[in-house]
Amino acid sequence: MVTSHPEPRIALVTGAAGTMGKAAVAALLKDGVHVVMADLDEKALDRARVDISASCPSIDVGRKTHLSPFDVSNREACRDAVRRATDAVGSINILVNNAGILTNNKALETSQTEWRTVFAVNLDGAFFLSQAVLTSMREKRWGRIINTCSYAAKSGGLTAGTAYSVSKAALVGLTFSLAAETTKDNITVNGIAPAYVRTPMVTEQLTDEQRKRVEEGIPVGRFCEPEEFGHVVSFLASPLAGFITGEIIDQNGGLQFD
Ligand SMILES: NC(=O)c1ccc[n+]([C@@H]2O[C@H](COP(=O)([O-])OP(=O)(O)OC[C@H]3O[C@@H](n4cnc5c(N)ncnc54)[C@H](O)[C@@H]3O)[C@@H](O)[C@H]2O)c1
Repeated sequence: MVTSHPEPRIALVTGAAGTMGKAAVAALLKDGVHVVMADLDEKALDRARVDISASCPSIDVGRKTHLSPFDVSNREACRDAVRRATDAVGSINILVNNAGILTNNKALETSQTEWRTVFAVNLDGAFFLSQAVLTSMREKRWGRIINTCSYAAKSGGLTAGTAYSVSKAALVGLTFSLAAETTKDNITVNGIAPAYVRTPMVTEQLTDEQRKRVEEGIPVGRFCEPEEFGHVVSFLASPLAGFITGEIIDQNGGLQFD
């Protein structure tokens, strides 16, 4: 039997000031979810909330969101943030680990600092936050954890560097491990593996010529729109997606079938 979700549904979305984070927040708000918007910087979160209000005019975004500036790579900060959010709005029952940093250096050019920093944000942050929400999800017997992975995990990184690609592959591994550990708890843990979403992370790095070449190389002939990513977040967070766990949904415009 499908288990109905707890009320209220409360999501914590990291990287919420970024392009894909904002799209995920907007999609969840449209589903009636209260969203804790997490990112490094309060000012960026404020600006993101203004952008989301403009794109969701029928929603009282100020009342339905809570801003939470912290660094996901810091374990104590993750625990504090979840504690503070729980006190302010209630237990988190949807976690979207979306914060990420991209570097493009290939193996021989990658310094130890770059390697550690990329892993600290892209992998450790998702692990620390999952640890911080799991106990209450288990107690409530309902939860959704959604990790923003990347096509780079499978392709080895087309333009992305080694640290980034490996960190996203490790995030796929974390998704599988947490999914295996939580199947009996009515918690699902899934990932989304996008390629080439129309965001500054992708477009600002490319010249017009390169952008045209990349777009032509994507079988569907265009970049993924951020709203399409938000839609998959909303789907995986929905009660009727409860039979899907340990799955990585490819969103790569046909770059690879498997
Ligand atoms: N853009 C793409 O095509 C693409 C493809 C595959 C995967 N992704 C992944 O999607 C996610 C979102 O990417 P985006 O394109 O929206 O990038 P973005 O740079 O717009 O957003 C990332 C956000 O993460 C935040 N962040 C970075 N380090 C942080 C930290 N230590 N603590 C808290 N927040 C931190 C940034 O401030 C930023 O707001 C990332 O995980 C990225 O790796 C992007």
